[in-house]
Amino acid sequence: MKVLIPGGNGMVARMLAETARARGHEPISVPHAEWDILDAQAAKAQIDRHRPDVLVNCAALTDVDACEGEKAALALKVNGEGPGVLAKACVEALVPLLHLSTDFVFDGTASKPYPVDARAKPISTYGISKAAGEKAVKDAGGAWTILRTAWVYGPGGRNFVDTILRKARAGEPLKVVRDQIGAPTYTGDLAEAILRLAEVHARGIVHFTNGWHCSWHAFAQAIVEMDGLDVPVEAVTSAQFPRPARRPAYSVLDLERYHLLTRQRPRPWPEALSEYFAKHLKASKQTGA
Ligand SMILES: NC(=O)c1ccc[n+]([C@@H]2O[C@H](COP(=O)([O-])OP(=O)(O)OC[C@H]3O[C@@H](n4cnc5c(N)ncnc54)[C@H](OP(=O)(O)O)[C@@H]3O)[C@@H](O)[C@H]2O)c1
Repeated sequence: MKVLIPGGNGMVARMLAETARARGHEPISVPHAEWDILDAQAAKAQIDRHRPDVLVNCAALTDVDACEGEKAALALKVNGEGPGVLAKACVEALVPLLHLSTDFVFDGTASKPYPVDARAKPISTYGISKAAGEKAVKDAGGAWTILRTAWVYGPGGRNFVDTILRKARAGEPLKVVRDQIGAPTYTGDLAEAILRLAEVHARGIVHFTNGWHCSWHAFAQAIVEMDGLDVPVEAVTSAQFPRPARRPAYSVLDLERYHLLTRQRPRPWPEALSEYFAKHLKASKQTGA
């Protein structure tokens, strides 16, 4: 399968390319500098040139707090309109589009996992922009898949695991919120899920995260313990730790449709975290990198 990937230097995109190669596919990653997803001509040219079997949109503005401030207008364009530009080009070329979206399209007031058909009700500019992107993909028609995921970490990107480790290894005090609940997701597992869904020609909205759920505080504690550090992690509330963008308090996603489509159950997040440590973090600890 030829997999065309705009936003090719991003955290998910890098792992997707590596995993696609390992599964015998042909990834074609194109970085932002060579393809702006807002450019309709560029989308057409890339698709005509590569004739992919699927286009996986990994391009987005993902700094949630920056999206609330100075990057708000750009986020609404890139995350809100960009997917529609790609979707129209895909429809014209009869290429299926798999678009990545987020738990931030929900307001977080639920008390059980959000099903794929739950109504989007974002509470941040990032969430609003991503919900607009979903709508643009649906409105374009054609063969589309929207894959919502959450709390993503992996090599080659800014992420919570690396931030906690850097601070804990430097002996910095850690304060982490306990009143936001979600499901941490390893890019290695997310990349496998994207490819499985493309392989079975899944259509519509699908959710994928690692299994189980936890608070950011519990996640941070697990990270510190897995690294063998004896650093206290103080639990705080979101009110004690104000950030520019509001976050959903509960954003666990229902994974049933993913199971129905692929017959796979995502492994629990501690298992995936352990693999991330084994594959990517042990070496950095030994070398101090
Ligand atoms: N990370 C998470 O926790 C998380 C959670 C849920 C969903 N997601 C979704 O997963 C997807 C991938 O996220 P990620 O974590 O891999 O993000 P990322 O590491 O920030 O990568 C996004 C990439 O998109 C590129 N980009 C930005 N604007 C662009 C444009 N106009 N045209 C083309 N490329 C552009 C960026 O390039 P530059 O940096 O050079 O601008 C960057 O390489 C996104 O749709 C995101 O919403 C992520």
